[in-house]
Order: sequence, then structure tokens, then C-alpha cells
Amino acid sequence: MHIPVLAAEALAALAIRADGTYVDGTFGRGGHSRAILAQLGPQGRLVALDRDPQAAEEARTIRDPRFSFFHLRFSQLSQAVPGEVQGMLFDLGVSSPQLDDPARGFSFRADAPLDMRMDTTAGATAAQWLAEAQEEEIREVIREYGEERFAKQIAAAIVAARGSQPIVRTRQLADLVAKAVRTREPGQDPATRTFQALRIHVNRELEEVSLMLPQAVSRLAAGGRLAVISFHSLEDRIVKRFMQALARPEVPRRLPLRASEMPQPVLKLVGRPVRPSEHEIRSNPRARSATLRVAERTAAAFNPDNRIEPGARWRN
Ligand SMILES: C[S@@+](CC[C@H](N)C(=O)[O-])C[C@H]1O[C@@H](n2cnc3c(N)ncnc32)[C@H](O)[C@@H]1O
Repeated sequence: MHIPVLAAEALAALAIRADGTYVDGTFGRGGHSRAILAQLGPQGRLVALDRDPQAAEEARTIRDPRFSFFHLRFSQLSQAVPGEVQGMLFDLGVSSPQLDDPARGFSFRADAPLDMRMDTTAGATAAQWLAEAQEEEIREVIREYGEERFAKQIAAAIVAARGSQPIVRTRQLADLVAKAVRTREPGQDPATRTFQALRIHVNRELEEVSLMLPQAVSRLAAGGRLAVISFHSLEDRIVKRFMQALARPEVPRRLPLRASEMPQPVLKLVGRPVRPSEHEIRSNPRARSATLRVAERTAAAFNPDNRIEPGARWRN
């Protein structure tokens, strides 16, 4: 069961118009989508996307002429959304059913094949990547995406171990990491950071967000809302910087400028970042690290060349 995080806040952020068209870029098990549909009138439309084939299956159970679903990555948003829409929601990361299904290989709590792909129909699994990557690459991924102090030791342990036996199971990797990590953070499994890093890498999660944001803005009608819920600081930083850059465009150094040459804000930030209440965290611990950021599209022209290049901006 997936309990949608910050559901009331995200819905309020979208300021839904009954006859508007909305996008749920991360359908999951449809918690947010169903809530959006409940607020739409007969003329309203909801377009949902998810890269996970199981989400696609769940979407088939929604028989509603106002609803359509695309099994796509949200970096392919423009393919699914040809015209302008009044609001878009992205609830990033993995869903509870993905985490909880041992067969998906996201969790170190159960022994399972080391897969970790959100889209089980495409791309290399975590096991395949670990079999082929250079030690240096493994170290950088674990260091950057896991913010792991012992990345060097873990990468060395992985490379040493794969010399005698391929690393293909979640427990096998978790045990290896536990031996390489010298100090454990209280209440955290030593494999937590490494698993997060591999998941982000295998699914190109940060690139996906960087590619999606400019497409989302270019499809928003003036007054349309963009709401993004992120679950770790790396993706939240991308969202924050993107929204801030478009809300406060840099004034070119060459002065004086005519009024018509002044860059206009393409987004207006709406409120402060929203975090879940103590009450929500108690009833849904997965909400703990969630942050919702909201922005509204202005009428100013948007030049997608302002976009954040994949791989460029999350490093500092
Ligand atoms: C946190 S869950 C969303 C849960 C959903 N809001 C609900 O109420 O059920 C995130 C979902 O986004 C999907 N997802 C993550 N990254 C994606 C991407 N780049 N493109 C498409 N879907 C993605 C995952 O497969 C997962 O189903």
C-alpha cells in the first residue's frame, strides 16, 4: 500500500480548476491521481506518467474518460503532453510498493536479485552495473549519490569480491558493505547510503529531474502550478535551484538595458518549502524526508536554453 505523501498540501498547491488539464508525472499507485480526479469536473483532464510497468498496470484499473496514462519516463514529458496544462505534480523517488516488493531488489532488508530498476523493461540492473563498472566509477557514485564517507573502502570491497563471485543478491551486497563501513550511524543500516546511491545511479534519477523541469515549465499555461515533492537533498537541490533561477533571472552584466531587455521571471515561488507534520511522519515514516516546492508560471516567455544540463549542477 502506498500512502501518498503531503497529499493535502500537494493538492492545495495545484489550486485545481474543475475544467483544467493536469499532469501527475509520477503515478505510482495513483494516490495523488485519484485525489486530483476527485476535484475535476466533467471537462477536466488528468494525464499521468510512470516508468514502472506495475504502475501502468494499476493505471489500467482507473476507468475514467478524463484520465490517460503513459508508460514513459518524465524526461519524455513533452511526448505525453502536447499542449498547455494548468498544473503538474511530481512525487519523486520510489514508491512503497517498489521498496516493499523484495523481487525489485531496492531493499537490503530482504534477500533478492540486485535489480533496482524502476522500469524493469529497460536498462541495466544494479548487479549488471556492479559487474562491469570501474572501481573509480563505483566509488564516485557511492560518494556523490550516497554521500557516503566510506565510498573508497566500499568500492574496493566490491571490486575485490566480484573477482571471486558476481554480486547478484541484495544481502550479498549489504553484507559486503557492512564489513567495509567502520562506523555506523545510529538507527541506520550501514548499507542504506550505498543502496540509495546505486538506486539513483541505475535509474538516472537526477538527470531525469534535470531534464523534466524545463519541459514541465514549457508546458505550463500562465498561472499554472508546478509542485514537486522530493525525498533527498540531492534532488531537492536541483528543484530549488531551478525554481529560484527562473523566479529571479540574472540581469545581464551589460548595462544600461532597455526595459524590454530586462529578463522577466518565468516562475513565481509559491509559499515556503512544505514539510510533513509530526502527525504525518508518525503515521507514514516514509514522509520523514519529504519537501514540497511549488511555483507558478508567469506569462513571460520561457527560453528552454536556460535549462539545467544533466550532470552539471548538483555537484556543488
Ligand atoms: C513516490 S512514488 C509516487 C506515488 C504516487 N504519488 C502515489 O500517490 O501513488 C514515485 C513514482 O514515480 C515513478 N518514477 C520515478 N522516477 C520516474 C521517472 N523518471 N519517470 C517516470 N516515473 C518515475 C516511480 O516508478 C514511482 O512509481
